[in-house]
Amino acid sequence: MDATAGPAAIPASDATPLVYRHSVTTRVTHWLFAAAFVVLVMSGLQIFNASPNLDASDKSNPARRVLAIDGGTDSAGRPVGMVQFFGLHLTTTHLLGFTDDGQGGESARAFPGWITWPGYQDLASGRRWHLFFGWMMVLLGAAYFVAGIRRHDLEKIVLRPSDLPKLLPMQLYYLKLRKEPPEHGKYNPLQKVAYTTVLFVFTPLIVISGLALAPGMDAIASPLTAVLGGRQFARLWHFLAMIGLIGFVFVHMTLVLSTGVVNNIRSMFTGRYKLGPHEGTGQ
Ligand code: HEM
Repeated sequence: MDATAGPAAIPASDATPLVYRHSVTTRVTHWLFAAAFVVLVMSGLQIFNASPNLDASDKSNPARRVLAIDGGTDSAGRPVGMVQFFGLHLTTTHLLGFTDDGQGGESARAFPGWITWPGYQDLASGRRWHLFFGWMMVLLGAAYFVAGIRRHDLEKIVLRPSDLPKLLPMQLYYLKLRKEPPEHGKYNPLQKVAYTTVLFVFTPLIVISGLALAPGMDAIASPLTAVLGGRQFARLWHFLAMIGLIGFVFVHMTLVLSTGVVNNIRSMFTGRYKLGPHEGTGQ
């Protein structure tokens, strides 16, 4: 199948237009990215556990602490887990700070073993997994962008000034306060906001801050680390970009589930998508 071929209407048995919507490159990069994302989050949290605090500063600075997850035992030997978020202090024993050690017990560690990779504390392995999948993500992103530009797909996904007046009507439609969505092409204006933010804000931020954190890159491209406010600040940017991407994944999955789960998932495997009544030609 030609990954760069344009959309072709495919006859559907029930006369509903079925269109070729996602190229091979889009589908392959989508699923590989989904797998890489899971490993990157889990191995990233393993790395975070080795130094479980984030400061809005160029160097470690408790006076500018944004997040700290600490654990230990109190004077009576009882386990205690604590989260500090700016000035807020929360007791989180058994959830964060003092939690699952990935080996069937509990110990002082920031994130629990079930959400880190590897599950037990092993910074060196976490780094290897993270860097392997980090570079894989960079290559996948490059392939996606090149194919998107060649197929003129990227221009359909980017939010434009003409989409702005359609944002509220689209939101009202999602809230079922409006019968029909505003006219739109392949992606509706709210999808464009989400995809534009992910593709042009969070993804570049996580890659650039990841590069600033990589010791080898730091040595040859130290101005990059400086622009981000130093190594500690780069960690904070990296973490914030991860939160942004996790937020996107939740919204994305909610929309996939609420707008025809079979049709959506099938289209990401086969490329073929059954158009809804308001989706025009789907382009
Ligand atoms: C979805 C993608 C990604 C997620 C969710 C993610 C998440 C994380 C997290 C949570 C940390 C720990 C931050 C800390 O405590 O220092 C981390 C560290 C790091 N990440 Fe990522 N990351 C991603 C992509 C990348 C990419 C693309 C690169 C580079 C190409 C990268 C390179 C690094 C490096 C070098 C570190 C620090 C390693 C160390 O201290 O040894 N990350 N990442």
